Amino acid sequence: MGLRAWAPGRVNLIGDHTDYMGGLVLPMAIGLGTEITGDRGGNWVMLGSDGFDGVAEIPLAGVADPAAIEPPWARYVAAVVDEVRPRDGLVGMVHSTLPAGSGLASSAALEVAVATALGADRVNPVRAARACQRAEERAVGVPCGIMDQLVSLAAVEGMALRIDCDTLQLEHVAFPDDAEIVVIHSGQHRELSGSAYAERRAECEAAEQVIGRLREASPLDVEVIDDPVLRRRARHVTTENERVDALASALAKGQLGYAGELLAASHASMRDDFEVSTPALDQLVGTVRGVPGVYGARVTGAGFGGCVVVLCKPKTRINGPVVWRGRPAPGASLSTI
Ligand code: GLA
Repeated sequence: MGLRAWAPGRVNLIGDHTDYMGGLVLPMAIGLGTEITGDRGGNWVMLGSDGFDGVAEIPLAGVADPAAIEPPWARYVAAVVDEVRPRDGLVGMVHSTLPAGSGLASSAALEVAVATALGADRVNPVRAARACQRAEERAVGVPCGIMDQLVSLAAVEGMALRIDCDTLQLEHVAFPDDAEIVVIHSGQHRELSGSAYAERRAECEAAEQVIGRLREASPLDVEVIDDPVLRRRARHVTTENERVDALASALAKGQLGYAGELLAASHASMRDDFEVSTPALDQLVGTVRGVPGVYGARVTGAGFGGCVVVLCKPKTRINGPVVWRGRPAPGASLSTI
């Protein structure tokens, strides 16, 4: 009997560049993701792919350095194998409906699909998410937070997921019936292993040297930071943490107009204080905001290109490259076929 493992991508509604500082995030799973079909057994994990070139051939005994192996996508597979340490191998195929480099967590979906196929403990999604987060850092050197892997594992249909990235407590937030999410692509490819992500994280850590943990700080506290760049970075993180709780409660109460304003404020903060937006993203957000039925829009994920998330009335007509639309999708699953 064969297996099918599925791991969704995600769109982050609000709370970007907060997870690696122990902050708050509110992502949801989308209906695009990565599927692995195959059979367990043997001493190797061998995966082909209809989207990526080459074959991932990873011995269960592990590889010396996952970051050094070819083809490049196999680095994620090697790092997950090393973290999960399965007893049995796997021979199968990877099929993904997620566009890579779009800010929809395609690498996390690949990691979670591999971990799920290899039987990682899904009863405790935090443990599996941590293993996949470590794998990402080992595979490509990106010091990412835990949001993408955790929402892919723990999402529940119809619900956004509030994650406290300090305590790793999860709270499922009902998504309103009379709303829909649309994800539009800016046309700009985003490459996370570029240095900008690590640079932002280092700036936040430098701000913490001045005022202590950003998670405990208020937007007022950051005003004492002399360096204007560090002050802006810290202001984004502290105001964004506040917006996560505000959006979670606006969604729970069905206050969609207010939810839209929070998305606008988050976009402005990503653009002006964290400086991870681009002219193409700003223009897209500006255009889509004027469309009747749209409550709000913002850049989603790490920024530097990729996608815009739009909150709108169901069936709102949006012109432009729509990548996905719908309501929160379920998280990872494993079945026999
Ligand atoms: C990427 C990382 C996440 C998170 C976002 C920005 O998606 O993988 O951990 O930091 O960027 O919010």
